[in-house]
Amino acid sequence: MKCDIKDKSLRKLGKKRIEWALNRMSVLELIRKRFDKDKPLKSINIGACLHITTETAGLAVALKAAGANLSLCASNPLSTQDDVAASLAYDFGISVFAIRAESRKTYYKHIGSVLENNPRITMDDGADLVSTIHSSFAAKGNKTTNTLPWGSTEETTTGVIRLRALEKEGRLLYPVIAVNDAYTKHLFDNRYGTGQSTLDGIIRATNKLIAGSTFVVCGYGWCGRGVARRAQGLGANVIVCEVNPLYALEAVMDGFRVMPLKEASGLGDIFVTVTGDTNVITSEHFIRMKDKAIVANAGHFNVEIDLKSLDKLAAGKRDVKPLVTEYSIGTKSYTSAGTGKVIPRRAQAKPQLKRIYVLAQGRLVNLSCAEGHPAEVMDLSFANQALACEYIAKNHDNSFRRDVVEFFVMILQPLAGSVRLQVFSSASPWKSLSLNKGGV
Ligand SMILES: NC(=O)c1ccc[n+]([C@@H]2O[C@H](COP(=O)([O-])OP(=O)(O)OC[C@H]3O[C@@H](n4cnc5c(N)ncnc54)[C@H](O)[C@@H]3O)[C@@H](O)[C@H]2O)c1
Repeated sequence: MKCDIKDKSLRKLGKKRIEWALNRMSVLELIRKRFDKDKPLKSINIGACLHITTETAGLAVALKAAGANLSLCASNPLSTQDDVAASLAYDFGISVFAIRAESRKTYYKHIGSVLENNPRITMDDGADLVSTIHSSFAAKGNKTTNTLPWGSTEETTTGVIRLRALEKEGRLLYPVIAVNDAYTKHLFDNRYGTGQSTLDGIIRATNKLIAGSTFVVCGYGWCGRGVARRAQGLGANVIVCEVNPLYALEAVMDGFRVMPLKEASGLGDIFVTVTGDTNVITSEHFIRMKDKAIVANAGHFNVEIDLKSLDKLAAGKRDVKPLVTEYSIGTKSYTSAGTGKVIPRRAQAKPQLKRIYVLAQGRLVNLSCAEGHPAEVMDLSFANQALACEYIAKNHDNSFRRDVVEFFVMILQPLAGSVRLQVFSSASPWKSLSLNKGGV
């Protein structure tokens, strides 16, 4: 078995932590038991690009029980838990290619290692695996259709957006199940999972008291709603900045202050972006921020905080704690928060110095500074993923379209011990599939 991980000796700790998560993933456990009996993915190569966490280990174990040959790489260079990677490789026999804080080059080398396994099903969190397949297919002159996977699954909002863009341009080469769009994914994972783990990440990195702080949330989508609510629950005064007027109105009715980010910049103690957009916080905001403002991102890619502009603005930067970078600002010209005028350095009686703290280099704060979503919520998300893989394996012979497919998994009574699942897809001619009406 091939793998590339940091340190095999971490496997013992990883195994214990994986067991802790597995004990909290009851829906996935029921699926795993059935998979173990029926082997619906027998000898099927699956390539997955997901965050390497204890919860992902739960999914990996279920796919392995189904008979799949699974290769796994990370969907973010900073989210890998090295002990989990070691245990997956050496306790569970899964090919893992992931090392925490790997360089961009290694990140893509690991994606390449997963693709060497010639996966029939791909699984993504952010669409990097599918995008790589599309680029290499184009580089080969669009000639190798028979080696394309049967289908794929996509875990997150940003990945679905990227794939829908490919679909719209007529360039999507094979169908993708938008797992993110299943209610049993985004209603819980994005809202409660991102909500709790984002606060967890900020607190672990800074140990800052949230109560009484002014907490600015950029984006009031599924994740933003969760982050705002959890921050409020810890006693913060929450301000929401949202570009969609309907969601902004919803935030007002949910009891939050809503204003443009430019206005909120001078008020916030903590800023979190969770939009899926680029350059949400830029120099015009940094320049207005208070001394010691903390800035973090929970959106998928590290593009929401414009760190290039912060670098230009700053006189210096240094790491002050693990995953906390201090930028010193004020030895250059700045814009007066009061008048809005630019005050050149030479005109400042005493050049101001203020510090801005950026967490985890603007990468997913919940996965970089904490452990990501709790197992209970990933149980639902990964139940969707496991069933989506089974669905692709059972239906790929149909003349399916190259679409981003909506996928619904109804998980009924998950907490009552008798889980019932029903799976159906919006994509004709993909058949609807009803799993075990009397229980999984
Ligand atoms: N950290 C995690 O573990 C995690 C989990 C799930 C999703 N995500 C990622 O979080 C991001 C948001 O996901 P979501 O499901 O909430 O998406 P969503 O589409 O439900 O919400 C995004 C919101 O941001 C708003 N927005 C866009 N640009 C903005 C801007 N410049 N300023 C203010 N608001 C803006 C949109 O109008 C929308 O309401 C995505 O990148 C997604 O992939 C992260």
